[in-house]
Amino acid sequence: MEASRRGVCDTIPGARIRHLYSSWVVIGTYCIRLVILVTIIFVGSSQGRELTQAATAASRHERRLEAYTDSRSNGAPMHGPAVQSFRVSDGSWVDCIPIEQQIAAHHPALQDHIIRMQESSSTHLNLQQQNADRQSLLHPQRFAREHGGCPEGSIPVQRMSTDSKQLSLRKQQQYHRRHPRHSKHVGNGSAAAANDLGHLYAVVGAPETVGAYAGAGAIFSVNGPVIGDPSYEFSLSQLWIAAGNGNNTNTVEVGWQTYPALHQGDNPLAPHLFVYWTSDDYHGIGCYNLECPGFVQTSNTWVLGGSLAYTTLAEETQNEFNYDDEISISVVFDSTIPGWSLSINETNVGYWPSSLYTTLQTSADTLEWGGEIAPSTIPTNTSMGSGAFPSAGFPLAAYQRNVIFYDSALTPMNADLSLLGVTNANCYNVSIQQSGDFANWGSYFFFGGPGGLDSACV
Ligand SMILES: *[C@@H]1O[C@H](CO)[C@@H](O)[C@H](O)[C@H]1NC(C)=O
Ligand SMILES: *[C@@H]1O[C@H](CO)[C@@H](O)[C@H](O)[C@H]1NC(C)=O
Ligand SMILES: *[C@@H]1O[C@H](CO)[C@@H](O)[C@H](O)[C@H]1NC(C)=O
Ligand SMILES: *[C@@H]1O[C@H](CO)[C@@H](O)[C@H](O)[C@H]1NC(C)=O
Ligand SMILES: *[C@@H]1O[C@H](CO)[C@@H](O)[C@H](O)[C@H]1NC(C)=O
Repeated sequence: MEASRRGVCDTIPGARIRHLYSSWVVIGTYCIRLVILVTIIFVGSSQGRELTQAATAASRHERRLEAYTDSRSNGAPMHGPAVQSFRVSDGSWVDCIPIEQQIAAHHPALQDHIIRMQESSSTHLNLQQQNADRQSLLHPQRFAREHGGCPEGSIPVQRMSTDSKQLSLRKQQQYHRRHPRHSKHVGNGSAAAANDLGHLYAVVGAPETVGAYAGAGAIFSVNGPVIGDPSYEFSLSQLWIAAGNGNNTNTVEVGWQTYPALHQGDNPLAPHLFVYWTSDDYHGIGCYNLECPGFVQTSNTWVLGGSLAYTTLAEETQNEFNYDDEISISVVFDSTIPGWSLSINETNVGYWPSSLYTTLQTSADTLEWGGEIAPSTIPTNTSMGSGAFPSAGFPLAAYQRNVIFYDSALTPMNADLSLLGVTNANCYNVSIQQSGDFANWGSYFFFGGPGGLDSACV
């Protein structure tokens, strides 16, 4: 293509002859006039030609979900067999499985679903430039750092230990016992409601006046909270996108969590990337990551449930803060899927198809950002965020910065945040800051605290 474009006309500054082929070289000195003429002719036909090319490209790359089963599955939904497996230096294994045969293929609403391979997008306003200005960014996950990613046409799946799998199974049963151990969204603003579930929160929300949201995002510090009872407890930082009430509560959730019991054998004390969804208020429909048919992954580099690079409070105290240990997360409704599309650090990771949902098909009514702990006892010595109180500020306290929402016209807006649920401010607190200037963190908040077994945290 390149060569054939360079004909006689190359000597004409600015001549736009993208659509000419080498046969047009004979045009010779009449080039300028003909370029004008030909441009007129081709403007009409090029649109059609581009459409044809796009269609050809699409059918070449079209990938359809296909449910894989074999004798080992015993009827349970499963991924297809790995095309390649990688050992990561933290001792974990990542299996690269064919993108068509991911577990989502087993969802009844996704039979023959054509996977939407999306272009990487810069959803977070001018951040790409900010990042480009910084040198040699290291990928926050070891798999991508050490192996680059899965071969094209496959996606990475974190291999779970048998114990973790059993925990996942028990977790499913616990949903039915109305004591969810995973991230539960705070709901209608009250810390009392949060307390009913036995979870501890420090959470902020978007202004309800907007009504309908088409997405949310933030840049997260990635911290190392201490887990007092590693056999049970977790501590997390996430965002919630929700719609509906009661049993019709639907959510899209994403963030990091330190959950040693779920990540045995894989850096258990490190924060792990997670996504989550429910369409029945956590009663049984929905799950973490790729543990059940739902989320459709398209990225061949990001590992859901894989650990993240992070900075501990001790390191922050030494002023060893590392911007590489931040991740930017955004989720935006994409009507072409249709579904909720997840980007992490400007890479499209995948999406939650609208067909998973009953109330979250096209827009959300609630957005929340913040920290949460599932305690095994109250009080607990599990910390939230970095373990520092918000008053410690940067770089000691955990934060989410550049908190944005997308309005129904898909315009990203600095979120005018309000306090939504703080279970016990003496223990885990939130402080909201609005710089008004996106380059200067925009809307942001510090959150967290040390927890403790004394009376302050009862
Ligand atoms: C939230 O609670 C308040 C007071 O209980 C109530 O008036 C309001 O309608 C509730 N909002 C939603 C979205 O349920
Ligand atoms: C948290 O408290 C428990 C006792 O409830 C204790 O066994 C554990 O060592 C403590 N952990 C930390 C990190 O302080
Ligand atoms: C919500 O769903 C659960 C589980 O399906 C059911 O037990 C419960 O009765 C439902 N609650 C309401 C208010 O419908
Ligand atoms: C990820 O994005 C955050 C926020 O923009 C940035 O600070 C960090 O350096 C990025 N990391 C990589 C590996 O691109
Ligand atoms: C929690 O944070 C808020 C906002 O920064 C502050 O006004 C309040 O005093 C804090 N509460 C406690 C108990 O520290």
